[in-house]
Formats: sequence, C-alpha cells, structure tokens
Amino acid sequence: MKNKILQLKKKKNAVILAHYYTRPEVQEIADFVGDSLALSQKAAATDADIILFAGVHFMAETAKIINPAKKVIIPNLAAGCSLADSCPADAFAKFLEKYPQYTVLSYINCSAQVKALSDIIVTSGNALRIVNSLPKDEKIVFAPDRNLGNYINQKLGRNMVLWDGACHVHDQIQEEEVLEVRDLHPEAQVIAHPECPSKVLKNADYIGSTAAMLKYVKESSATSFIVVTEQGILHELQKQNPEKVFYTLDTPRPCEGKTGDCLYCAYCVHMKLNTLENILQALETEQPEITMDEELMARARKSIERMLSFN
Ligand code: 13P
Ligand code: SF4
Repeated sequence: MKNKILQLKKKKNAVILAHYYTRPEVQEIADFVGDSLALSQKAAATDADIILFAGVHFMAETAKIINPAKKVIIPNLAAGCSLADSCPADAFAKFLEKYPQYTVLSYINCSAQVKALSDIIVTSGNALRIVNSLPKDEKIVFAPDRNLGNYINQKLGRNMVLWDGACHVHDQIQEEEVLEVRDLHPEAQVIAHPECPSKVLKNADYIGSTAAMLKYVKESSATSFIVVTEQGILHELQKQNPEKVFYTLDTPRPCEGKTGDCLYCAYCVHMKLNTLENILQALETEQPEITMDEELMARARKSIERMLSFN
C-alpha cells in the first residue's frame, strides 16, 4: 500500500501534508509533517498539482483558501474538529455585533466562515508574537479557544474578550492527572499544549505548539518528559529523541480501548480517521475534494494572509 501511494503521488504530482497527531504510518508516508502554522506555510508554497491533507477539515480548507488553484483532497470528510465546531459562524457573527470596534483574532482551528469574520488568524505557534505586535490598548475579540485565549491574556497581560470554545481532547485533561504522573516521575519535565485548561498549564515547564514542543525537547538537556497533548506527537518525539523517555497521562492506567470513541484519553478521533487505505483511495479518485464559494474564500484569505505576513 505504501508503495502504491508513493507511485501515485509521483504520477499525479501530489504532495501529502500531515499533522503530528495523525497515525505513525500516515506521518511516515507524508512529504511533510508539521504543526498548523508550518502546514499552512507549506500549503501556500507548494508547486504540486494536488495537496492531500492528512489532518482535519479546517486544515484542508485553509490549504484551499491560500492556494485556490490547487486541487485539495482530504482522505475522510468526516475528519472534523471539536474546537472548530464549538464556534458556529452564525452565532459568532451575532456575538461580534456586541463588539463593533474590536479587532477579531481567530485561532486557525475554525471554519472558513469564521475566518471570513476575522481580521487576523493565529496558530499556537505564532499567537503570542502576533498579539504582542498589536498596540497594548487595542480591543480584541479572540475565538474560538478560551484556553488558548486565557493563556495569551495571562502571559501578555491582555484583556481579550474570549469566545467560549474548546478542544474536547485538551479541555478534558485534569490537573490531577498531570500531578499523578509527575509524582511518579518527579525528574521529568512537563510539556503542554496551550489548548489545555489553565490549571493544567500552570504545572507545565514548557507550553507550546506541537512543533515548538518538539523543538524544546530536542534542545533540552532533560532526559524525560510528561507529554500533555494528543498522543500522536509521541511518534515524532521518539523518532527524534530515541535516548529520551516520554510519559503520557494514561501511562499509569493504560487504556486497552483506543477504539476511537473514548473521550478520556488524549486521543483525537478526527486525526485518526486518516489511514493508508483512505489516503490511497483519495489519491486514486482525487476525492473527496475541498471546494468553497469564491467569495467566501476571498474573505477568509485576507485574515490568513495577514497571519502569514507576520512570519
Ligand atoms: P498545532 O500543531 O498547531 O500546535 O495544533 C494542535 C492542534 O490541536 C491541531 O488541531
Ligand atoms: Fe481539533 Fe482538538 Fe483534534 Fe486538534 S486535537 S484537531 S483541536 S479536536
């Protein structure tokens, strides 16, 4: 299957972009694996004819918006995102009516419609830098992730108005779980994603995007880490750092299930919908294809391009 994918990819001049939360075998056949920021930069710069996005729907949508001449395909259209779903565009538009003078900043984990309602898009890799570049007294609405928004407010002393959304994977992580694993491994450093609640983040030695966590671990002199994010990142962490040890929150209570419908482990069911089988099928059929209204794409593109101009 791997060989068939590689042959088809070459024949059709397709590029496979994958997120760190996808299955190990998917990351292994990808041309590029990255965080949301790096993936959007790659999608903008590629000269391939087809972008196969092994990630979730908003990522493939973003790729199409910033590179509309390309055919963008996603292996499984059902690969959504609970965080993006927590901010329906019509409710958000209504919410914004209360804040007419505000700059609207949205985390990239949102629909094209929400991007079209936004002034600037950010990712966990550049949010602090972008907010910090805005005048201290600028009034800002931040959507959809209240945890990332809280983290930015606290870190930069801002008072952004927050939309009350969250990622089901990160938001259900409890402080007690982190403390339990830390008690077992007091020498280990805690690395966490800013989509986690503030009670969890206050116990972290390092907070950052998936790519930032990978960089931190690689450069750190520490030899063991407690990983507080979706478990797919372990593949790249272990690959880059074979001599280091990684503990996950469910290490003391291993879950046998991982059936894909469990909400109590750091496991994103949407990311795992990408498999070698449906990647091959998508390359063969060039379906499902991401398509959007031109006018919607034009409005959403402005806010994404503003983000890309910061990097
Ligand atoms: P990053 O890889 O940009 O940190 O995003 C994490 C995530 O939850 C993607 O949906
Ligand atoms: Fe969305 Fe959370 Fe999955 Fe990321 S981990 S794709 S934010 S549901």
